[in-house]
Amino acid sequence: MSNTPIKTFNVREIREQFPALRQQIYGKNLIYFDNGATSQKPQVVLDAINKFYSKENANIHRGVHYMSQKATTEYEESRKKIQRYINARKSEEIIFTKGTTDGINLVAHSYGELLKPGDEIMISAMEHHSNIVPWQMLCMRKGLTLRVVPINERGELLMDTFEQMLSKKTKLVAITHISNTLGTINPVKDIIVKAHAVGAKVLIDGAQSIQHIKIDVKDLDCDFYVFSSHKVFGPTGIGVLYGKEQLLDSMPPYQGGGDMISKVTFERTTYNELPFKFEAGTPHVAGGICLGKAFDFLDSIDLKAAEEHERFLAKYAEDTLDTFEGVKIIGEAKNKTSVVSFSVKGIHPFDIGTLLDKQGIAVRTGHHCTQPLMDFFKILGTVRASFAFYNTKQEIDTFVEAFEKSLNMLK
Ligand code: ALA
Repeated sequence: MSNTPIKTFNVREIREQFPALRQQIYGKNLIYFDNGATSQKPQVVLDAINKFYSKENANIHRGVHYMSQKATTEYEESRKKIQRYINARKSEEIIFTKGTTDGINLVAHSYGELLKPGDEIMISAMEHHSNIVPWQMLCMRKGLTLRVVPINERGELLMDTFEQMLSKKTKLVAITHISNTLGTINPVKDIIVKAHAVGAKVLIDGAQSIQHIKIDVKDLDCDFYVFSSHKVFGPTGIGVLYGKEQLLDSMPPYQGGGDMISKVTFERTTYNELPFKFEAGTPHVAGGICLGKAFDFLDSIDLKAAEEHERFLAKYAEDTLDTFEGVKIIGEAKNKTSVVSFSVKGIHPFDIGTLLDKQGIAVRTGHHCTQPLMDFFKILGTVRASFAFYNTKQEIDTFVEAFEKSLNMLK
C-alpha cells in the first residue's frame, strides 16, 4: 500500500489557508495580483514562524544544548525536503542563501574565480537586473565578455541566434526560466543541452518558476538553479542555490566566517565541506525551517492542476485586456504563464496602478527591474498583474471592471 498522500487542487480551500487574502484594503476585498514580487504565506508557514521564535529559537550547528540541536535537526531536515522537492541528488547540493540575487552573486563570485580573460558569459535580453549586474561586475573584474541573446517582439528568445553565439569561449549561460515581466517560459532544457555541447555551464534563474512549474534539476540537467523563498510561499530573507556537487566542490568559498571553516590558524584556513563551505555566519534559521513548511504545503497540492489554473488565469486576463482600445500587451510568447504586462497609450502605468490600489487591487507598475527590456519595447514601464494558484477568474473580472473605471477617470 502506498503512503503517498492524495494531492488535491481546490482554489477555495487553498485560499482559506492564506489569511492575508481575507482582508479589505480601502474598504474593498483585497485582490492580490503582485505575486511576481512576493507571494502571500499559508497558515502553516505563519504558525511555524510564530512557533520558532516563541519556543524554539536557537543558533544551529554550534550548540550542545537541546534547543540548538533541535533547531539544527529541523534546519537540516528542511534542506532535505528541498532536495527531494527539486530532485537533487544530494542535500549537500542545496545551499541556503539570502535569495535569488544572493545565489547569483555567489555563483558570479565563486564560479567566476575559475574563469580567465576572454571567457564569455551569456545572458538574455529579458533578464532581471539581478541576472545582469552580477555578471557585468564579474566581467569587469576578470576581463570577461558579456553576451546578450536577443528576443523577438513577442518576447521569445531567438534560439537560432543563441546557437550561433555559443562557442568554446562560452563558460556560463545564465538565463531566466520564466520572465518576471513577460511571463515567457524559456526552453531551458534545450538551452542546457546546447550549452553543454560547447562545454558551458548553465544557471537557471528560477525566481519566477519554482512556484509555477514542478522543478526537477536532475531531469533539467542544469548546473545551477536559484530561487527565493518569499516567492514560493516561504519567508523573506532566505533562498536556495542548487549546484551540482562536483562543480560546487571545485569553486572557492563566497564569504569567510564561522561555520564555513574546517580549521583556522593565523597562517592558513581550510574550508568546511558542502554545503557549509558556502554558508558563512549564522544563517536565517527560522527562514530555512519555515521554507521547509512551504514545501510541505506545496507537496499537498496537485501542482499540475495548479499550473493549468495559472495558465488559464494569465490567458483569460490577457484576452480580456486586449479588447480595450489603447492597451498593448507586452509579452505575447506562445509559451507563457502567470503574468500579464501591459501598457496603455497616453497613460502612465503608475496612474493606473494607483487607481487600482484605491479599489483594493495590488499590481506592480514600472520597469520591474528589467530596464533593458523596457528599452527594447521602447516603453518606460508596464502595469503587471501576476497570479498565483490562489487567484480566481472572479478576481480577474473585478480587476477588469476596476481597470475600465480607472481608464474612464484618466481619459
Ligand atoms: N523580482 C520581483 C518582481 O518581479 C521583485 O516584482
